[in-house]
Amino acid sequence: MKLLILSRNANLYSTQSLVRAAVSLGHEVQVYDHMMCNIIVEKSKPALMIGNDYFGHFDAVIPRIGASATAYGAAIIRQLESMGIFVTVTAEALMKARDKLHCLQILSAHGIDVPRTGISAGDYCAPVVYDQISKERAVIKLLASTQGLGVILAQSKSQGVSIVEGFHRAGQEVLIQEFISDARGSDIRAFVVDGEVVGSMVRQAVPGEFRSNIHRGASSFKIDLDPAEEILALKATEILGLKIAGVDILRSKRGPLILEVNASPGLEGIEGTTGVNISEKIIRFVEKGVKN
Ligand SMILES: Nc1ncnc2c1ncn2[C@@H]1O[C@H](COP(=O)(O)OP(=O)(O)OP(=O)(O)O)[C@@H](O)[C@H]1O
Ligand SMILES: [Mg+2]
Repeated sequence: MKLLILSRNANLYSTQSLVRAAVSLGHEVQVYDHMMCNIIVEKSKPALMIGNDYFGHFDAVIPRIGASATAYGAAIIRQLESMGIFVTVTAEALMKARDKLHCLQILSAHGIDVPRTGISAGDYCAPVVYDQISKERAVIKLLASTQGLGVILAQSKSQGVSIVEGFHRAGQEVLIQEFISDARGSDIRAFVVDGEVVGSMVRQAVPGEFRSNIHRGASSFKIDLDPAEEILALKATEILGLKIAGVDILRSKRGPLILEVNASPGLEGIEGTTGVNISEKIIRFVEKGVKN
């Protein structure tokens, strides 16, 4: 098949790994930067351009849309959908998963346990919302945080409310979230492809740090999920309508909690840590999707 990967940078590990897997399975593959794609909207004639040229024929597209290009990336996906091309993520699922609050709203409404989370309209209500979440420590999280940047552990209500006020002043929306101390600075990344957990790892924060992001120096090791965690990861992706996802889970005394679901999960950490060729599983899924 003729495959297109949308990625801002063809040299990124995840992109390279997908290209390698596609080529080794005998497919033709091209990588384009989605920020170089132009959308042409016209009655019954949806079209895309790459730079100056109209889009050639592709059987399938794997979008690797980062947080900086979510809205435009989703518009491109929508266009591909109207053109009848198989895309590994729908625009709708990408948008839902990318918005931390929306994602938690959907999952919790479907009976999935998540850290208790509040959001206040403005500074005036921040103390009230903080009280609903915690009497002392709570996590304050930028809606737009990535790589753990903008995720802060407030030690008290007064500190937490000050942080919220500061972010609001800077024009940023934040969540006030129950701090899951049982997680002890670790979280689980379960990688799901087509209704199956194909690899999972624990990420452990450096001593003195509660954020287990690899970018914050965390280490990672392979684990097998227990059945409750596996069921939770699969259920969360199903609810969000994602076929490929990185599901982040916190272990707590009341059971596993979903922290977030990543619709464009990186492959370097999970492939390096688990030794599983996840890219190949993704390409196999695409083959199946194109046939159907
Ligand atoms: N409520 C919480 N309780 C305990 N630890 C938390 C909580 N929220 C976040 N953490 C820790 O902080 C890390 C970063 O938080 P989170 O994943 O929500 O944001 P992010 O990593 O910045 O976003 P993204 O994963 O989209 O890049 C988590 O991996 C987890 O280790
Ligand atoms: Mg995270």
